[in-house]
Amino acid sequence: MKQDNAPVSNKCQRIVIVGGGTAGWMSASALAKTLKGQYSITLVESDQIGTIGVGEATIPMIRHFNHILGVNEVDFLRATQGTFKLGIEFVNWGQIGDRYIHGFGTIGQETFTVDFYQYWLKHFMAGKVPALDHFSINTAACLQNKFITAQTDMPNSPLGQISHAYHFDAGMYAKFLRQYSEALGVVRREGKIARVTTHPADGHIRSVVLENDEEIVGDLFIDCSGFRALLIEETLHTGYEDWSHWLPCDTAVAVPCASAPELTPYTRSTAHSAGWQWRIPLQHRIGNGHVFCSKYMSEDEATSILLANLDGVALAEPRPVRFKTGMRQQAWNKNCVAVGLSCGFIEPLESTSIHLIQQSIIHLISHFPSAGFDAADRSHYNEVMSNEYAWARDFIILHYKATERSDSPFWDYCREMDIPASLQQKMALFRSHGRIYREGNELFTKPSWLQVMHGQGLRPRSYNPLVDLIREDETQQYLSDVSGLIGKCVDAMPTHAAFIADYCAAQPPM
Ligand code: FDA
Repeated sequence: MKQDNAPVSNKCQRIVIVGGGTAGWMSASALAKTLKGQYSITLVESDQIGTIGVGEATIPMIRHFNHILGVNEVDFLRATQGTFKLGIEFVNWGQIGDRYIHGFGTIGQETFTVDFYQYWLKHFMAGKVPALDHFSINTAACLQNKFITAQTDMPNSPLGQISHAYHFDAGMYAKFLRQYSEALGVVRREGKIARVTTHPADGHIRSVVLENDEEIVGDLFIDCSGFRALLIEETLHTGYEDWSHWLPCDTAVAVPCASAPELTPYTRSTAHSAGWQWRIPLQHRIGNGHVFCSKYMSEDEATSILLANLDGVALAEPRPVRFKTGMRQQAWNKNCVAVGLSCGFIEPLESTSIHLIQQSIIHLISHFPSAGFDAADRSHYNEVMSNEYAWARDFIILHYKATERSDSPFWDYCREMDIPASLQQKMALFRSHGRIYREGNELFTKPSWLQVMHGQGLRPRSYNPLVDLIREDETQQYLSDVSGLIGKCVDAMPTHAAFIADYCAAQPPM
């Protein structure tokens, strides 16, 4: 006889992940770790189709993901030819010739009332303090190609506040996570999915059928099939919200090149006349790509700009990738959750895609279905994911909108375009008194918004008047002490290359 406190029978016992790119293997590894062998997890991927093969720069939250998995940082960096990332350098964005760094972590010191940067702003407006760069340990270290991990035994020193992410080889990362997942019992099926079957009663997905007729039946399907969106769109016709009027770039050409003499601890993003070029330094090579808008530039022209701006010889043929910026209308539809490119795409200007994969998985775990699928769970998950994407989207649009460039029709369009009301409000608030508010669990912090708004050339009309409650010479001294201390800390740090050689040097790839 069934006891009252017996667990409800679980109908989501069989999880099928479709796709073995970054999204597929991140989902497999996190679910395998969380579900402790109590569920069956099968991942289907096709070597014939392959993966997108780009996606190599991250933001610091990936360390949280690795922590959930229990991954050792040194093993992970050795296995993926990984390097450290302290921020992103933006070149030619506000105007041609401009340069600024968006460094992760804090600006100055944490305060509980008026933000530190407001004191800096007052003195900056009077032309009395050094550039913002000198108040971020991450940025100051980038400028000298220095790196060290945060010194956790020195919480009050800038050295305790360093915040790092990684650059890594996307293919090696998927392999690393595959090994991890298979060791925890994930079953991998190789083969191309020829068709998908659904339950006639409710339209839920029943199975995927490979070209060799092998059928894989599941309860919960995770669509990690990339831009194909095999389950969420081709099968369930969920619909897509197109954001290309705000983010008009629609193509990228990618190419790896040989390493440069200096190993920089940051991603570089250089704006060109119809888009921008990324530079991601790994231990064994540099990843490069040119993201552009095909309405304003041909693929040939974009490729020749890319090749003319490499640090070393190209190591492969340039490869084009086409995309449409936007997001699936429901990230979770019926018994299918879309993760990765099948869920949506925002260009990699601030390296948000892998983070969004991570968020999809974390939110799926907290909304994990039990007996059947509850509409309330699904709808809340969709709302949460829609916020995650919209927050990243607004931050990226800022880089295009807040520009003074007028050297091409592309930049004219970006400067003049309408933007979401949420971003309009943020920009207006900053323009008045330099105020920045972080909504809910919004991804980017105040220091991030500050560095990008300031770096793109937005200037507030004034500062928070409460700053004037402290004598000017006192705040001037305070600012000078903070920047001086940051400078001393950076002087004492090893170079990024020396740190890697000592900590996590990888073998040259075979
Ligand atoms: P991906 O396409 O990699 O994988 C799809 C999988 O589905 C493959 O295994 C394929 O075989 C499988 N599949 C498809 N159809 C199938 C079928 N019929 N049968 C069987 N299997 C099938 N992100 C970031 O955080 N930082 C970055 O720097 C960048 N840079 C970047 C640059 C460019 C140009 C783009 C387009 C994207 C990025 N990204 C990024 C995003 C990042 O690349 C992306 O989020 C991850 O690689 C995840 O990709 P997916 O796993 O979703 O798809």
